[in-house]
Amino acid sequence: ALVVRHRMINSRKWSRALSIVKEFEEKCGTPIGKLRQLGDAMDVEMHAGLASEGGSKLSMLISYVDNLPTGDEEGLFYALDLGGTNFRVLRVHLGGKEKGVIGQEFDEVSIPPHLMTGSSEGLFDFIAAALAKFVESEPEVFHPPSGKLRELGFTFSFPVKQTSISSGTLIKWTKGFSIEDTVGEDVVGELTKSLEKIGLNMRVAALVNDTIGTLAGGRFYDQDVIAAVILGTGTNAAYVERAHAIPKWKGLIPKSGDMVINMEWGNFRSSHLPLTGYDQDLDAESLNPGEQIFEKLLSGMYLGEIVRRVLLKMAEEAEFFGDTVPPKLKIPFILRTPDMSSIHHDTSPDLKVVGNKLRDILEISNTSLKTRKIVVELCDIVATRGARLAAAGILGILKKIGRDTVKAGEKQKSVIALDGGLFEHYTKFRVCLEETLKELLGDEAADTVVVKHANDGSGIGAALLAASHSQYLGVEES
Ligand code: GLC
Repeated sequence: ALVVRHRMINSRKWSRALSIVKEFEEKCGTPIGKLRQLGDAMDVEMHAGLASEGGSKLSMLISYVDNLPTGDEEGLFYALDLGGTNFRVLRVHLGGKEKGVIGQEFDEVSIPPHLMTGSSEGLFDFIAAALAKFVESEPEVFHPPSGKLRELGFTFSFPVKQTSISSGTLIKWTKGFSIEDTVGEDVVGELTKSLEKIGLNMRVAALVNDTIGTLAGGRFYDQDVIAAVILGTGTNAAYVERAHAIPKWKGLIPKSGDMVINMEWGNFRSSHLPLTGYDQDLDAESLNPGEQIFEKLLSGMYLGEIVRRVLLKMAEEAEFFGDTVPPKLKIPFILRTPDMSSIHHDTSPDLKVVGNKLRDILEISNTSLKTRKIVVELCDIVATRGARLAAAGILGILKKIGRDTVKAGEKQKSVIALDGGLFEHYTKFRVCLEETLKELLGDEAADTVVVKHANDGSGIGAALLAASHSQYLGVEES
């Protein structure tokens, strides 16, 4: 009798766990009709953000990039990429149309977490020091003649209100950063102060968002690139807009007629978004409550954390991992998206990788196959929702620029440059995004829209933009 009773209790717990998953799955639903509504909503918000400052949750920031690389860019340029957990310094040798990128070297440094929430000076001093160290390895032939400054493309992947191609003030931090005294400051000014302090002769020639860098880098290799999307720690998109379609732009209409827009789509919000209670809690407990809601549903910083939250609920309410709640499961952000990806891609019959990850990260051992399968399913629910939402966002951009349908007799190719660790490494996410986009566009339009991985476009792109905005442009070298 005791055994029977025990089994009954267990099966009751098990079905409670399953119903938590089921309810979550239902709330995460992204049927195609909903994605279309989201695409429309994105298009509407894009118009509103372009119409006036603060007109929308989408800030639709003017990048001051009105000319994308042509391939003629030449010379040695530096680039700095700050925006994720790592930051990179690059040296790029551009050889013009004939030779393309002749050489590039880079160094990657991880940012000590305390600097992400410390002081502005601390962060920029650290960056300047890493840059100075990297410059030491510059081959002698490239040493600039005295009086000439090295030039840098600064990829700063946060929302910035640009005041020119080489200056702009930080609107707010996103992702894991939160340093109060930088907000409202010119980030180029902040970096320049630190460069001067350390005695490094370098000037920032271009300040760009990673989406803008990726767009520029993508365009260098393929003239059909019209937009760039980042799916990494955070998420965002940029695209080429016609300057006269930007009512809030009060400057001259550039010769090209174009202006690149940094959408900051991570801050997109719509009643059509499939938000669950877990997402609401995640948001409320985040560094930036109420902000970056789209980003919190689909970017690399958050996917693993959403899974953790659902697992915790299952542990607490259905004893999913036994009669005690595993203490590690209570630690925010302990389940990182790369680990979630390994779990999700486990193809071994006994889901060995899943078992090992649960043991190593969460200290949950001896999980049954049944349990592991549910964990995989949860990853699938979260990744699928995110990937499909990203596809809906891309649909919105294509709509805005009239590239979502094929006009009679026209076969204009539209290439979207994608980059970021999530896109690059999370295969199931990427495949789902690509399939959903096809589904949304229909066969004919799907043939003209190409999603292309722009491998580190953003670093090269920043160097290219530094080159085209060089203050020595056209000046004969001595
Ligand atoms: C965040 C930033 C945005 C950046 C994106 C991808 O959304 O606000 O500027 O482009 O992350 O790195």
